[in-house]
Amino acid sequence: MSDAVTVPLLDLKAQYDTIRAEITEVVNEVIESQWFIMGPQVKALEEEIAQYCSTRFAVGCASGSDALMLALMAIGVGAGDEVICPSYTFFATGGMIHRLGATPLFADIDPVTYNMDVASVHDLAGRAKNLKAIMPVHLFGQALEKDAYLALGSELGVPIIEDAAQALGSEDTTGARAGSWGDVGCFSFFPSKNLGAFGDGGICTTNDEAHGDLLGILRLHGGRPKYYHQIVGVNSRLDALHAAVLRVKLKYLDGWTAGRQANAAWYDRAFAEHGATTSAVGLDEGGFPLRTPEPAGGAARHIYNQYVIRVPSAIRDALREELKAKGVGTEVYYPVPLHLQECFADLGGRTGDLPHTERAAAETLALPIYPELTEQQKRHVVDTVVAFVGKKAAVSAG
Ligand SMILES: Cc1ncc(COP(=O)(O)O)c(C=O)c1O
Repeated sequence: MSDAVTVPLLDLKAQYDTIRAEITEVVNEVIESQWFIMGPQVKALEEEIAQYCSTRFAVGCASGSDALMLALMAIGVGAGDEVICPSYTFFATGGMIHRLGATPLFADIDPVTYNMDVASVHDLAGRAKNLKAIMPVHLFGQALEKDAYLALGSELGVPIIEDAAQALGSEDTTGARAGSWGDVGCFSFFPSKNLGAFGDGGICTTNDEAHGDLLGILRLHGGRPKYYHQIVGVNSRLDALHAAVLRVKLKYLDGWTAGRQANAAWYDRAFAEHGATTSAVGLDEGGFPLRTPEPAGGAARHIYNQYVIRVPSAIRDALREELKAKGVGTEVYYPVPLHLQECFADLGGRTGDLPHTERAAAETLALPIYPELTEQQKRHVVDTVVAFVGKKAAVSAG
């Protein structure tokens, strides 16, 4: 019976079914207005996102990748500069630094939270020749600690760009929202994000008026007034249709996040009943060889863009195959750390450079966590994972 249950990694149709009428109405309004570029929908979304993130300004753009690029351009990163970022992240984090002619310096992660490790940043900064900025990532929706990073930024004397692409609405232990405290915060509206557009989209947030103004010019080819260019920018606008869709969805975001958090707590409990511990306990320390995400501490708010478990690298890919055979979608975020990507080979990264990053890339697996999951689906995921991991653990113990 339970084998007939299927659980995709993400089911956007389930979400769409609940808001179809509202979406149809606003999409029709935009079509009737024939105002597709910039305009009132984009402006209203920018105001609403700034309010949601507790920032003074928000500037829409064409993708989360472009948000990173525009932020780097706004703080003046260019050829010859160095920017520290994690290696364990989506490609765009390092890719955008490289694209501007700067050099990404890849830091290791904290193996418990998977976020960039402050000590590793210190180490890299000590060896950097022309450090221009640091760009940490709020990975999987788990917020970075604002105070630790602000102290680090002022100690190193460089601005901070928050890659908050996966973390809209997440908060650290002091209640600081992701994207609210760096020089610029960057978000993605890729459809798999907690707030996803019907295509690509992104936004930058900032409290600095000059940065906000510059970001607004840079996304319009650098022209102001139109056709007069003191600087060279790019074409990176958020479409009015996306903005209209996102404004409808934003009203539901906190409810969807609560659903993800409830699912994460459900998984945590169910896996713990079978002997799993959190990622605070190393796999080497023994016990049932399954680690769940360490829940956010204190008042922090993890928004669970991803729910990522950890198992021994020897069984990770086989577990993925087993889940696929049982109808469960999963993903590996991310199988190849940035310091080992072929396109960055000339930066000299070697296997063994960043041990926590490399282990995470080999041991982690993201499970379905979207808010519409049913109890039967969650039970099927847990039963399949536990049966497979338990069987493998028994074999290796025997
Ligand atoms: C950490 C991180 N940074 C940047 C991006 C880039 O966002 P986009 O796909 O909207 O360009 C993503 C999106 O997947 C991401 O997860």
